[in-house]
Amino acid sequence: MKSKASAPGKVILFGEHFVVYGVKAILCAINKRITVTAEKIEGEKISIKSNIGNLELETGKLISEINSPLKPFYYLADKILKNENTGIEIIVKSDIPLGVGLGSSSACCVAGAAAISRLFKKTSKEEILSLAIEAEKTIFKNTSGADCTVCTYGGIMDYDKGNGFHKIESEPNFHLVIANSNMEHSTESVVDDVRKFKENDENRFSSLCEIESKLVKDVLGLLKGNDIKKLGIKVKENQEYLETIGISNTKLREMIQIGQNASFGAKITGAGGGGCIYALADESNLKQTINQFKDKNYDCFSVKIDFKGLDTF
Ligand code: MEV
Repeated sequence: MKSKASAPGKVILFGEHFVVYGVKAILCAINKRITVTAEKIEGEKISIKSNIGNLELETGKLISEINSPLKPFYYLADKILKNENTGIEIIVKSDIPLGVGLGSSSACCVAGAAAISRLFKKTSKEEILSLAIEAEKTIFKNTSGADCTVCTYGGIMDYDKGNGFHKIESEPNFHLVIANSNMEHSTESVVDDVRKFKENDENRFSSLCEIESKLVKDVLGLLKGNDIKKLGIKVKENQEYLETIGISNTKLREMIQIGQNASFGAKITGAGGGGCIYALADESNLKQTINQFKDKNYDCFSVKIDFKGLDTF
């Protein structure tokens, strides 16, 4: 018997980094997915096959001794296989570019937790989310949990560490043009750099958290009214705060300039230091935004909000 699950990637629309310190963020799931298939196999081993490589190990290994980006799958399989007399094969397929801030690792954790756990019993979305966050912590200890949450439930939501998520009921009809810097980044090390920035000037960081909170509150109102032009202004403002905390660089700034000239507003999404930016567009400026990035030879594509979230089949 095979168990299959898929989960969407995500874009953090507002509030990345500040969310680690308790500020509310706004995220949406995107219509690009990771699909995981799990199947029982003979022998007490865990075999993982993916387009970023393969990993095959016996069960019962110490997680700290595994040095592979596929570690979260091993963690999930080994935990779920405890007291089961079988091995497991996991196959991962992705249409999300990996490691660029679009939630590929959280989508892997969510789809992996669902496909593996549901080989043995019917697990709820809440149980899957909690397993997924545990698994994500094997590669990124200080995760806020925001990414796995939106990959599980889909749609657009606000999220803070204390209160969890809250679905935003309006269904905004914007397009996001994602441009990829193709610069590798490690979420963990960028989050660590922001922690150093904070520790260097606690007062400045706490006033930035306050203005970011205020911005997110304003955005929640604008989303209800579907006011894309005003949302674009907020996107630009948020980018300024991300510049201030030091997660941008020359290449990202050049991309943001292109996005801001062509669309309603553009900013880094996710950890920064590399990875992706998004530009906020509608039918009136979608094509021109894509063309502007393509003319300058940037990888780019457009996405819409995914309202389905985790899917098992
Ligand atoms: C990474 O996609 C988002 C960060 O805010 C970290 C987190 O929320 O765990 C940078």
